Amino acid sequence: MDKIIIHGGRRLKGEVQVSGAKNSALPLLFATLLAPGEHRITNVPSLRDIATVEKLLTILGATVQRQGDLFAVDATHIENNEAPYDLVRTMRASVLVLGPLLARLGQARVSLPGGCAIGARPINLHLKGLEAMGAKITLDHGYVEAKAKRLHGARIYFDLPTVGGTENLMMAAALAKGKTVLENAACEPEIVELAQALNKMGGQVSGAGTDTVTIEGVNELRPLEFAVMPDRIEAGTFMIAAAMTRGDVRITGAIAAHQDALLSKLREAGAEIVMEEGAIRVRGPRRINPVNLKTRAFPGFPTDMQAQFMAMMTIGNGSSVVTETVFENRFMHVCELQRMGADITIDGRTATIKGVKELLGAPVMATDLRASACLVLAGLAADNTTEVSRIYHLDRGYEKIEEKFKGLGAHIERVPE
Ligand code: UD1
Repeated sequence: MDKIIIHGGRRLKGEVQVSGAKNSALPLLFATLLAPGEHRITNVPSLRDIATVEKLLTILGATVQRQGDLFAVDATHIENNEAPYDLVRTMRASVLVLGPLLARLGQARVSLPGGCAIGARPINLHLKGLEAMGAKITLDHGYVEAKAKRLHGARIYFDLPTVGGTENLMMAAALAKGKTVLENAACEPEIVELAQALNKMGGQVSGAGTDTVTIEGVNELRPLEFAVMPDRIEAGTFMIAAAMTRGDVRITGAIAAHQDALLSKLREAGAEIVMEEGAIRVRGPRRINPVNLKTRAFPGFPTDMQAQFMAMMTIGNGSSVVTETVFENRFMHVCELQRMGADITIDGRTATIKGVKELLGAPVMATDLRASACLVLAGLAADNTTEVSRIYHLDRGYEKIEEKFKGLGAHIERVPE
């Protein structure tokens, strides 16, 4: 297992290119299961989660060829309908095969993902929606078995806006008979991108990006040619890195429309934000202002940026309050930040952070994907040396992160543990 060693305290400067969005590439790659033929998806980031999708698609019968950021998926022969526990437990998003498999093959058997470090994360809303579309769902030895000769359209109200649930049902509904209306749907940019992709495949999806998505089912879809959008969470992580190291970084490929909540909180923290053509430039203040925030579904402040933003608040000039409303247990990074000298107290879903003058480098351990990014950011701003272990979490979602930070002048290296 590798670890990352950071000699912190350097101001980050220069330009960094954002990779393709993991959370968009995953549903797009699963959407290939909906249509026989060869699909070509570009700007796919090279990440551990993407390697997991590749394995899963191959197990299901697809042929996958990778050439740099191009994924050519031949989904002509999908013979298997089972997503095994071994893969689903390493990547919860594997449950996104359920909708496409059921729609294409009439049945699917997918391991239940179980809980994870940030909370219980059930998939009840995915299942309820599929049942409303006529699927018979049973649970068998830890697996969800879903069957439906052909799904039919339905009106489905989500009790809360679920990103994965909205995506799963959009894909299932694309080949269902009749019209499906998803209400209180998630509005994330990844949902809009999936709708665009389904429409390119010959689907009829409208309303994506609002809380009501309508899908007119079609009899068949054609192969997809698509370029994945830039990763807004990766872009946001570089923005915070620039802000908290008093740096000056041009983040190429960052899309401002995806970042409203974060940009507004960065400005509140004192960062200077300049919109440039095809890029967002962030300059850090001399001292970070404290900022209060609550995570929310899009367009609210993303839960996937909460840990990184908290890392910045640890060196704020005063007290900040961060409330996590999306996941129930997403403060695993707090204990590790405390080991670096941060002053944080937690009460339920609220963390109060009293800014300290500086963080002190320490050995710390990553517990989940975004928590790992938070520790890297803390290490970049800290005095002395920080060692982040268990970085396989980081490799699930950040492409070449140490190379990118090195390019901005950071002292950072990956070494075998
Ligand atoms: C996706 C993102 C993840 C992000 C999250 C919230 C991917 C691959 N992952 O995860 O990075 O943190 O959105 O923006 O895109 N819930 C239920 N029942 C369900 C489904 C969800 O109760 O059937 C709850 C979850 O436990 C959570 C909330 O709904 O509290 C939001 O979860 P959801 O939007 O579904 O997250 P994911 O799609 O798993």
